[in-house]
Amino acid sequence: MEFINYEVEGMVGVITINRPKALNALNSQVLEELDQTLDAVDLDNVRALILTGAGEKSFVAGADIGEMSTLTKAEGEAFGKKGNDVFRKLETFPIPVIAAVNGFALGGGCEISMSCDIRICSENAVFGQPEVGLGITPGFGGTQRLARIVGVGMAKQMIYSARNIKADEAYRIGLVNAVYPLEELMPAAQKLAASIAKNAPIAVRNCKKAINDGLQVNMDEAIVIEEKLFGDCFESYDQKEGMTAFLEKRKVEAFLNK
Ligand code: CAA
Repeated sequence: MEFINYEVEGMVGVITINRPKALNALNSQVLEELDQTLDAVDLDNVRALILTGAGEKSFVAGADIGEMSTLTKAEGEAFGKKGNDVFRKLETFPIPVIAAVNGFALGGGCEISMSCDIRICSENAVFGQPEVGLGITPGFGGTQRLARIVGVGMAKQMIYSARNIKADEAYRIGLVNAVYPLEELMPAAQKLAASIAKNAPIAVRNCKKAINDGLQVNMDEAIVIEEKLFGDCFESYDQKEGMTAFLEKRKVEAFLNK
């Protein structure tokens, strides 16, 4: 892979978008490599992912403006679909994904972070959807996910005005869960990922699915989604071990993802 690095440490995989010359902007090749990387994640052993950008300046500075500049309407739509398909794969990925936003998260960069389950960022992070200043709409999910995360009013203000916001404002409006000095961002992401990875993997996956799927339907249907995923945990080795450990007043020996 030219633009994606993937490393596994323990039960945590780290995906790094590595195109620093273009501030990690997303061209078709980056999107394809990201797609392939996700397909290759060993879901038997990896229990959480971290997504970050190479370098100290940018997470992802958006979709590649050079590549987009000459697209026809049909090609523009196809490019939007290419990004949306990969981002949806990330959003529905079976295990949790943490975005460690280490700088610019503009346009497609803000959008890819919003496809992750959890966003944390460094103090130098900048978020925004600058697309209308380029003559286009956000095209990798920004018109849909930003409103779901920060509310319709704030999303419309950010998108219509194309105003970028700094880390403290992103924290205040709930776009990120926490802000760290740059050098503390990856250790914090690793610590958070490890705190997820130590829990029963089937249960964690079912929580992700229950929250994601439940948010798309009304409450009556949502609680049925929960009931099924709750029921699905029973009879698993990990459910028996987790509950037996509690009843025997001992620590869980190990969750085995079965
Ligand atoms: N696409 C292509 N190249 C990009 C890029 C992008 N989104 N963002 C940065 N680059 C390139 C620059 O062209 C420059 O390349 P050269 O050295 O070859 O000239 C290099 O990265 C460094 O960038 P700058 O010199 O501009 O760095 P800076 O520190 O002065 O500014 C910045 C940083 C404010 C992030 C600025 O680069 C910028 O505004 N980038 C564009 C951000 C943007 O508009 N993103 C949204 C894209 S549209 C989109 O994402 C659509 C969608 O929803 C799918």
